[in-house]
Amino acid sequence: MKNFNDKVAAITGAASGIGRALALELAGRGCHLALSDIDPVGLAASAVLAQQRNPGLRISTAQVDTADRAAVYAWADQAAAAHGQIHLIFNNAGVALSTTLEHVKREDFEWLMSINFWGVVWGTQAFLPHLRASGDGHVINLSSLFGLMSLPLNGCYNASKFAVRGYTEADRPPGQDGPQRGADHGA
Ligand SMILES: NC(=O)c1ccc[n+]([C@@H]2O[C@H](COP(=O)([O-])OP(=O)(O)OC[C@H]3O[C@@H](n4cnc5c(N)ncnc54)[C@H](O)[C@@H]3O)[C@@H](O)[C@H]2O)c1
Repeated sequence: MKNFNDKVAAITGAASGIGRALALELAGRGCHLALSDIDPVGLAASAVLAQQRNPGLRISTAQVDTADRAAVYAWADQAAAAHGQIHLIFNNAGVALSTTLEHVKREDFEWLMSINFWGVVWGTQAFLPHLRASGDGHVINLSSLFGLMSLPLNGCYNASKFAVRGYTEADRPPGQDGPQRGADHGA
């Protein structure tokens, strides 16, 4: 993709932080936006700021919990219908949890993984058909430095971000990542 002008980007976790910053940056580059978050107030504020940045853009918003697979699929279809096409999905929504591995509660670990890992999986799978249909689609999944190295007291977060990186890097098209090692052992 050479530029973002007149493309359409979907962003999860767009109500604050990196998600909002992405929305504003893309708006400044002429990219139409399908924004989602569980926080409707922050989400509406992001949409207003992006529209102010570029009044000519089409911007849609949807209150979506990325842990809810059905809701993510429904949003992908609604966003594609509203905008005509989707070129980019930024699976950005994420949460943190600081605790020891010994004391972490199962429900807390599952909550984090349902957003940081499974939310990324649902966003990738739900949007891929629309990205392919656009002819110029891209998946951007937010991992972290802690998907490369581990920070003490953040084992659950680290695990989710290592998982996102492993999942995402497997989706490179053949030929863009050097030899496909699994296919040529013995060769
Ligand atoms: N801030 C950093 O330094 C940093 C560094 C590396 C990676 N990241 C990653 O970048 C992403 C964004 O981080 P941030 O710092 O902007 O965080 P943030 O807390 O500012 O924003 C996260 C957004 O996700 C939303 N969200 C939370 N749970 C959700 C759910 N179930 N469904 C939909 N939306 C939900 C929140 O409402 C919030 O708007 C996260 O995945 C985070 O792990 C952040």
